[in-house]
Amino acid sequence: MRIPLPPAVKTRLKNLYWQAKDVLRRPPESYKHKKLLRIFELCRLYNLIPDTPGDIVECGVGTGSSLLTLAALAKEEGRGRTVWGFDSFEGFPEPAPEDASERGVRKGEWGFATLSRMQSRIDEAKAERVKLVKGFFETTTPHFKQPIALLHIDADLYESYKTVLANLFDNVVPGGVVAFDEYGSKKWPGATKAVDEFLTGKKYELKKIYGKYYLVK
Ligand SMILES: C[S@@+](CC[C@H](N)C(=O)[O-])C[C@H]1O[C@@H](n2cnc3c(N)ncnc32)[C@H](O)[C@@H]1O
Repeated sequence: MRIPLPPAVKTRLKNLYWQAKDVLRRPPESYKHKKLLRIFELCRLYNLIPDTPGDIVECGVGTGSSLLTLAALAKEEGRGRTVWGFDSFEGFPEPAPEDASERGVRKGEWGFATLSRMQSRIDEAKAERVKLVKGFFETTTPHFKQPIALLHIDADLYESYKTVLANLFDNVVPGGVVAFDEYGSKKWPGATKAVDEFLTGKKYELKKIYGKYYLVK
């Protein structure tokens, strides 16, 4: 004998059914999927440098998702590489006209991602051999002299990309990898322009892993 369900339970079940269907139908661009892809991208990039000497450098640390992933990969590799994180830790500098897009961008965005916040995340994650360099790239990157095996640029803006490439590209060793997080993104036209300008007349080929562009030097 079937016991009829009370109408309230029936409605609840129906709602759950539609919610589940909605989750399954969600496009792969959903937030969690994007986060997972970023981890895969970084793993794949990291796997390109097993025999390449040098440190790992990220320009544009924000709240540290990618930096902590890189630090975990370096720890697992056990080669003793240092993972450097460059950021103002007070948000964006003044954007350039090249950065204008529908998204809109303002000086000071990411200002919530402070140095102390990042340091706590590093401590919490028990990440090792991570060094943070606070300041705008224009002042910090010219002093960096270490060889780089992987340079991950996640700085969004035209001038920031230009500065990092001008000051750090020569530190990338032969066989090293340079990854451009925003290349090809409509939201960040300045990043694409800066990379294209930098690569004009150079022999490097842009490649792609999932959504991320990179080159091997
Ligand atoms: C998109 S966020 C980085 C996100 C981060 N990689 C993550 O996984 O969460 C961009 C960062 O670049 C930094 N940034 C952009 N231009 C900069 C510059 N010229 N000097 C220093 N930091 C800069 C901003 O402060 C911001 O924290």
